[in-house]
Parts: sequence; structure tokens; C-alpha cells
Amino acid sequence: MPNIPLRAGGPNARIAVIPGDGIGKEVTPVAVKVIQAATAKHHRHIEFVEFDWGADKYLREKISLPEGAVDMLRNEFDAILFGALGDPRVPSNQHAADILLGLRFKLDLYVNARPTELFHERFTPLKDRVCNDIRLMVFRENTEGVYTGAGGFFKKGTPDEIATQEDINTRKGVERILRYAFDYARSGGAMRCSSRTLDRPSEPASAAVLSQSGHSARRHPLRLCMSDKSNAMTFAGDLWQRTFKSLRDEYPDVDSRHLYIDTLTMELVRDPRQFDVIVTNNLFGDIISDLNSQLAGGLGLAPSANIHPGQTSLFEPVHGSAPNIAGKGIANPFGSVLASSMMLDFLGWSAESELLKQSVKSALQENITTPDLHGSKQTHEVSAWLVNYLAKYS
Ligand code: NAD
Ligand code: IPM
Ligand code: MN
Repeated sequence: MPNIPLRAGGPNARIAVIPGDGIGKEVTPVAVKVIQAATAKHHRHIEFVEFDWGADKYLREKISLPEGAVDMLRNEFDAILFGALGDPRVPSNQHAADILLGLRFKLDLYVNARPTELFHERFTPLKDRVCNDIRLMVFRENTEGVYTGAGGFFKKGTPDEIATQEDINTRKGVERILRYAFDYARSGGAMRCSSRTLDRPSEPASAAVLSQSGHSARRHPLRLCMSDKSNAMTFAGDLWQRTFKSLRDEYPDVDSRHLYIDTLTMELVRDPRQFDVIVTNNLFGDIISDLNSQLAGGLGLAPSANIHPGQTSLFEPVHGSAPNIAGKGIANPFGSVLASSMMLDFLGWSAESELLKQSVKSALQENITTPDLHGSKQTHEVSAWLVNYLAKYS
């Protein structure tokens, strides 16, 4: 029996589960349980297939991303539920580069969507901010920039040593992430990019995709901010600027502006109400999404979706393997659960997606939280509470 993904007419949504390292192994099983609880009564058929790729396998067998893995994921799965990679025993982080960056590049997951939403005022370190003040989406270019590994050493280990790290920006790469962000802004945050749509998402749909941002309720175009460092990085910046200008002409209905990344960082803290959609390159998007997560409660709550519309896409919390708390049973599973909510939306199951998000909101309301959110619960207790909630309300 061939493994046919749902999008190609198979009977099940086929999800590859890669828990990875550290707390990735603690939060991912929670996400699987809550997905099962949220979808059981809706007769959604999901098949989870777990892969043990991570530091242990790398150290044991010298295998990071196994041969044939990319084709298998591309052809036989609808989505990937990913935990985190990173282990002090692998200081080079080689396995993480091979597996996580490898999948982002080889599956061409060019959109890294990282929403931030303040679920309760007590979670923001900013004074006098209320929930509606912090609700934004970062679209991070996810397949190029300084992440491609281009560069090298010359005279390594000598006093004359040179190290280069190249910032790769292609017209195609810049244009497609900008266009995605403009389309999303134009749709008022309601753009559908389900696994069944092909390539370019352009049709706003009733169901809320990427609804983690909370933008779905708004119907008017969202404000868009493109950010770069074109005053110092003049070649790459010039390409981003020119591409941005030509897209602005195509989207006159979208209120768009540009900020340098240093200014954006400052403005996000000064007044986050200014921002709905931010689009930027791979590195700046990485940094700004951690900053944003902190504005709304921290890394433990932040989800992300690595998307190529219409193809196998990868869903993960923004946080890493957190070796400082791994094994203690206190990892916050909400980032992974919210990433799963984004995944259900991607699969076209918006009601179940919304339910998962609602379960997290309710847990936060009731203070069913781990110590990072000043709660006293262990990961398994949060998990049990969510499963119970979902059994009741699904
Ligand atoms: P990290 O995200 O692992 O941890 C940063 C801080 O946030 C730590 O204090 C940690 O305890 C806390 N934290 C993170 N997630 C949490 C959660 N769910 N619940 C409670 N607390 C949480 O970042 P780091 O310490 O810089 O990196 C550790 C390793 O993870 C490194 O090897 C790094 O390369 C890797 N990393 C991987 C990913 C990924 O796989 N996507 C992302 C970021 C970092
Ligand atoms: C993330 C992480 C990764 C990144 C690391 C682990 C390479 O920080 O997903 O945000 O920089 O993309
Ligand atoms: Mn990061």
C-alpha cells in the first residue's frame, strides 16, 4: 500500500514527527496528543510516523538527515511536526544544520511565518499594553540570506586568518517572500495557504489560515512593514528595496512602509501597535521573532510554520532544545501546540485548529502553566489539562 498524502487523495493526513533533541522530545508528544484529542470526534484521519533524527542518532551512527529522507517527506507526507535540535555534545551544531536547515532548503520552505499574539496582559513586559496592542505576523525569508553556508576560511588558525559568510539574496527569493506578505496583508490576514492549494496563494478564503496571528477577524488590508539594512548592506539592500518598490505599485491598497532593522527593533518595543505584518530576510527574521515572542510571554508560547504552499511543510515551536531545562519535566508545550494549530489550518481543518488555540488560551486564563510563565505545572500536567479540555469541547 503506497503512502499517499491527503493532498494527493490519500485516506489520511500523513504527518512526519521529528521530536529531535532536548525539550523537543518533551513538547512534541504533547502536541501529538492534543492533535489527536482535537480531531478524534471530527473523524479526521491522521497518521503519525515518528523519526528519531537528532543528536543521539548523529553521535551513534553519524547520520543526521538520512539519504532519501527529503524525497520521502516530499512525496509521502502532508506535513512535518518538528520539535527542536541542538545538543551540547554536538558543539558544531552540524546535525541541526543538516536536518532543520536542510529541510527548509531542500523542501524549499520559503515562508517562515512567525505570529505573535498577546493572550493575556500579564504576559507582556511592556507597560500598559493590552491584548489588542500586540498582534502581528513576521514573514521571515527562509531559504537564503546568510543561512546558505556560503563562505569559508582562508589561513584558518593563523594570525592572518580570514572568515567570510556570504549573504545570498536572489530576485526570485526576495520577490516571493515579499509577495506572500503583500498577499497576506491584502487578505486582511485571512489568506488560505492550505496544503491543497498550488504554489502561489492568492485567494483569500473564509477560513482563517495562519490564524495564530489573530488577524482573521479583520477584513481590511493589514499594514505591512518591510525591514532591511540597506543603508549598510548596500547590494542586498538595493535588491530588497527595488523589489519592494515594484510590489508596492502592484498593491496600492496595502498600506506599506520600510524601516531599517535597527529602527524596527526599537519601534517594536516603543509601540507594537504600529505593526500588523513584518517581512524581512532570514537573519533579521530570526532575531526579530525572538524579540516579538518576548513581548507576548516568551519563547515558550511562540509557534512557527515553514511553508511552501501546496507542498509538504514544517511546523515547529520557535524555541530551541533548551538544554538548561531538558529532562526536568517543565518545558512549556504551548509553542508546539500552537504550531500544531497552524498545521491543522494548513491541512484545511480550521475548526480543529481554532479549538487547539482556544485550549491554550483557556489554559492561560486558568493559569495552567509551566514555570517560564510563572505557573507551577509540569509539562505532563499541562498536557493532561489540554487533552481533557479538548475531549470536552471538541
Ligand atoms: P532555546 O530556545 O533552546 O532556549 C532559550 C531560553 O528559553 C532558555 O532559558 C530556555 O530554558 C528557555 N525556553 C525555551 N523554550 C522553552 C520552553 N518551551 N519552555 C520553557 N522554557 C523555554 O535557545 P538557546 O538556549 O539559544 O539554544 C539551545 C539549543 O537549541 C542550541 O543548540 C540552539 O542552536 C538550538 N536551537 C534550535 C532551534 C530549533 O531547532 N528550531 C531554535 C533555537 C535554538
Ligand atoms: C530558529 C533557530 C534556527 C535558525 C537555528 C537553530 C539554526 O534559531 O529556528 O529560529 O536560526 O533559524
Ligand atoms: Mn531562532
